[in-house]
This record gives sequence, C-alpha cells and structure tokens, in this order.
Amino acid sequence: MAVEAFDVVDLIRTKRDRGVLSTPQINWLIDAYTRGYVADEQMAAMTMAIYLNGMQRAEIRDLTLAMIASGETLSFAGLGKPTTDKHSTGGVGDKITLPLAPLVASFGVAVPQLSGRGLGHTGGTLDKLESIPGWRAALSNDEFYAQLRSVGAVVCAAGSGLAPADGKLYALRDITGTVEAIPLIASSIMSKKIAEGTSALVLDVKFGSGAFMQDPARSRELAETMVQLGTDAGVRTVALLTNMNVPLGLAIGNANEVRESVEVLAGGGPADVVALTVALAREMLALAGRPDVDVEAALTNGQAMDTWRKMISAQGGDPDAALPTARERHVVTADRDGVLVAQQALPFGIAAWRLGAGRARKQDPVQHGAGIDLHAKPGDTVRAGQPLFTMHTDDGARFERALTALEGSYRIGNAGEAIENGGPLIAARIE
Ligand code: URA
Repeated sequence: MAVEAFDVVDLIRTKRDRGVLSTPQINWLIDAYTRGYVADEQMAAMTMAIYLNGMQRAEIRDLTLAMIASGETLSFAGLGKPTTDKHSTGGVGDKITLPLAPLVASFGVAVPQLSGRGLGHTGGTLDKLESIPGWRAALSNDEFYAQLRSVGAVVCAAGSGLAPADGKLYALRDITGTVEAIPLIASSIMSKKIAEGTSALVLDVKFGSGAFMQDPARSRELAETMVQLGTDAGVRTVALLTNMNVPLGLAIGNANEVRESVEVLAGGGPADVVALTVALAREMLALAGRPDVDVEAALTNGQAMDTWRKMISAQGGDPDAALPTARERHVVTADRDGVLVAQQALPFGIAAWRLGAGRARKQDPVQHGAGIDLHAKPGDTVRAGQPLFTMHTDDGARFERALTALEGSYRIGNAGEAIENGGPLIAARIE
C-alpha cells in the first residue's frame, strides 16, 4: 500500500488550532477525501474547523484548484465566439437565467449555463424549464457544443464530472451544519464555474430575507472572495450584490416563472425582473467584449425572443405549447384600504415550496403548476377586498400549511409609511 503524504488528524488539528494549511496539504486532503481514504467524519471535523476559524485567501484558492483537479474541465477554445456565464446564489422568484441566457446569446456571445434543480425554498432553473412540454435538461457533450455553436445559449444539467470533490463535500456540509462558511461556499461555486471553462463570469450574489446568505456584509465578503478566485484563475469576473428581501417579479413557482420570463422576452414583464436582467446582461456582454450593444432594444424588437424559441426547441421543448396549470387555487385579498408596506421573500418562498413548487428531498418530483402569483408589490396602493396574491397547487390540502408560512409576512399600512424592502435592487458592483 502506498504511503500517504500526510496524516489527516494532523491537518484537522492544524485547522482546529487556527493554523494555515499548505498547498500540498490541501491537494492531498481533497484527493484523499475524493478517493475515500479520508473518512466522512474526518472531513466533517475539518469543515467545522474551517467554519469556525476561516481560511486565508491562499488556502481558499488552493481548495478551489484542488476541487477543480478532482474532475474534468471543459474548454470552449474551439467555439469561435466568446463565452460568458452567470451564477446566482439563489432567491425567491429568481427566474433571471431564463430571459438572460437568450438575451445575451442573441448578440453572438455563447452562454453555457450548467444549472441545478432546487432544494428547499429557492427554485431550480431546470425545474422551471421542465414545465415546458418536451424540454429536456440532459444533453450529451456533443449536443451541448453543437447547441452552443448554433443557438449560443444552452441551459442544461451539470454532469457529475465537474469538480466531483465538491459534490461529495457539499453533501457532507449539508448534513453537518457547515454550509454557511464563506471559504467553503466560494470554493464550491467557483470550482464548478472555473471547471466549466467559461472565459467570463457575472455573479449575482444575493442578500436579504430570501437569500441563503442574509447579511449584506457577509454576502459582500462572499462576492469579493469569489471575484478574487475567478480573477486569479484567469476568468474575468464581476459580481452584483442584489436585494432579495422581496420576491423578484410577480411569479414564484415553475410554469408561472416561465410565463413571466416570456413576458420579459416580449418586451413586458415586471420592472424589477427587467432591471436585473438588463443589468446582468450588460455586465456579461461587457466582459465578452460587447459593451456598446442595445440590450433593452433586444427585449422589445424580438431579437432575444427568437433566440429563446431556438434554445427551447433545440432541447425538445415546444415554445408555443400551453404551460401546465394547477388544479386548485386560493386567492388572498386585502383586509383594508392602504399601501402594501411589507412582503418578505423567505415566507413566500417557503409557501410556494409547501404548495408543491419545490422539493424537500432530492428524489421528489415538483408540481410544475404550483406556486404563487403576486398581484401587488410593496409600495402599491390596495383597496379592501382586492386580490393580493393567488396560491396554486394540485393538492388543496396544502393551502393551510402555505398560509401558516405566510402569517405576518405581508402587511398593509398607511400612505406615507416606510416600505420594508431593504433598499435598492442592486446594492453594489464588485470587480
Ligand atoms: N451553492 C453551491 O454550489 N455551493 C455552496 O456551497 C453553496 C451554494
């Protein structure tokens, strides 16, 4: 049996005692964990030590590179067009990838979006797209490259070959209370994005009640760490810090989020969804060497819609097919005249999830027609009896639990009262 280069217990003690791990130590740790030599309980102790004591920038870089080295890397060098990607840390009603990918690709830039399914209250992009009849998330490598060449935009399932060490480590963090460590989140996200081979990346890092990193200062630190990691790896990287205190847009679910995305691609849609789509598109296009194009015009003149239709058809979907609707609906109305002053993202995300739009376990199916349609946003004047939101599900027994999640999460106040939305949609830009 080959002699191992290090003793994992020494490495755990080093981190426990606030020491610094060297590049060879981190390379060995990730390799030994991936091949099963380091046991889950040892890695759990290590991740808790990292959670409690943090890591220096060089250690985070080494961890990211070691996770990339654990699997395959893609290359778009032969594509003949620039590539640019976007990653969002996830939020309630966050359907931005759907209008954004075809919008950016409509300018001749390739957008390879390897996406995931949702777990918990933030929905997954693939779950949303799977509500389109016929659309399939799994593509072979050949199909993936062919679609990038012909259409430019691809949103598909990430294979397990990219950064497999991250897959194993993330599952362990999930069950050991160590997800929320900035060094671990930053290396996890960036190892997959760098392995994916994009030359430019825009990060949408969210803060606020519906974000998984709620504190603005911590989400800024996460954004700065990821931008640094991308830049060090030769990927042009910019981050926007965006507000997730209020649901994004008016639709929370799957099919209804596709409907809203199509509205944006047709030149309409809610102002916040349009604003964030346009801001992210401008960043992506600037990084890809196209800073001067008219992004807004592409939403109103059909250019982005054409690319959307090609993108959906290329993956077997019918862009003209009717989208699924749920069997049952329940409308919640305003109990007084006034102004909607609060609408908290997290409870609305949890309620949509309880209605069946999300899943509690990886293997569960989602209800594509389930979710919530909002009829008013914070700042809107409402009249007693006016619908505030409609809940949709196939299973009416779910309404009660969804309503429980929503207790105290929205409020009608008086004209002139402060709106509880946590400030502007785009709080900062980090490069
Ligand atoms: N998303 C990831 O891919 N990794 C994390 O650690 C957190 C969110």
